[in-house]
Amino acid sequence: MNQPGNNRVALITGAGRGIGRAIATELARRSFSLCLAARSHDQLEETRRLCGLEPSRSLIVLIDLAQADAPQALFGAIDGHFGRIDVLINNAGWAPPRTPLKRLPYDDIARVIAVNLHAPIALARLAASRMETGGAIVNLASAAAHSAGHGEAVYAAAKAGLVTFTHAAFKELRSLGIKTSAIIPGLVDTDLIPPNKRLDRTAMLQPADVAQAVMNVIDAPAHLCPVEISLEPQRDPMRG
Ligand SMILES: NC(=O)c1ccc[n+]([C@@H]2O[C@H](COP(=O)([O-])OP(=O)(O)OC[C@H]3O[C@@H](n4cnc5c(N)ncnc54)[C@H](OP(=O)(O)O)[C@@H]3O)[C@@H](O)[C@H]2O)c1
Repeated sequence: MNQPGNNRVALITGAGRGIGRAIATELARRSFSLCLAARSHDQLEETRRLCGLEPSRSLIVLIDLAQADAPQALFGAIDGHFGRIDVLINNAGWAPPRTPLKRLPYDDIARVIAVNLHAPIALARLAASRMETGGAIVNLASAAAHSAGHGEAVYAAAKAGLVTFTHAAFKELRSLGIKTSAIIPGLVDTDLIPPNKRLDRTAMLQPADVAQAVMNVIDAPAHLCPVEISLEPQRDPMRG
């Protein structure tokens, strides 16, 4: 995984904006071919344009990862277009507005678990079974996994589950030459964080900071691959 991409293929979920788009542009700069997946076609097309990839080296898949059959469908498309996978970036994530647990709709609980935990695990399983000569699986967790704020208990639980899954998969997959890592960022200035006068957005991490951490995993020799990377803003974005 030290060499530039050339014929290597990466799948990035949630590639239409924010952190996923920043990761996509970095991987394109390293000559990876890309599968870009999310629900919003125009955003994915804009990511493809920013990556400067021609259609044969890029595949857009419109998919809702909350659906149980989405991971298999996504890999069906990748198998058909590229016939290989070298890097999986489990980036897509979703959280409802912060809501006290006793008022959180059951549908939101199911969607948070499906998008942030079930889909990444299912995609890792599908990717690992295809990575016969090694590869990398990078999971976007969150600092909420370790210190959740009020009204984000289920999101925090899903991300904590993803961190634990990463640690277990790291041990299981390293003998196959597959690197598995979790990136654990604090607040990043993206659409996921709604406008809030109590937050200083200039103090937040930028999507490019997170993309750089992902590249550190991609570039690391297998025996030096970190199982998790925590990223915190230099200043606390919380005002007062
Ligand atoms: N921003 C932060 O402060 C922060 C901090 C720590 C961790 N993270 C994590 O970093 C990752 C990226 O977040 P971000 O800040 O870049 O968020 P974002 O700007 O809201 O982007 C999220 C991406 O995920 C896609 N997505 C959401 N639900 C989906 C679904 N059901 N099926 C398929 N795709 C879906 C979105 O596209 P569509 O809506 O078009 O589907 C979008 O492309 C997430 O896992 C998030 O939990 C973010």
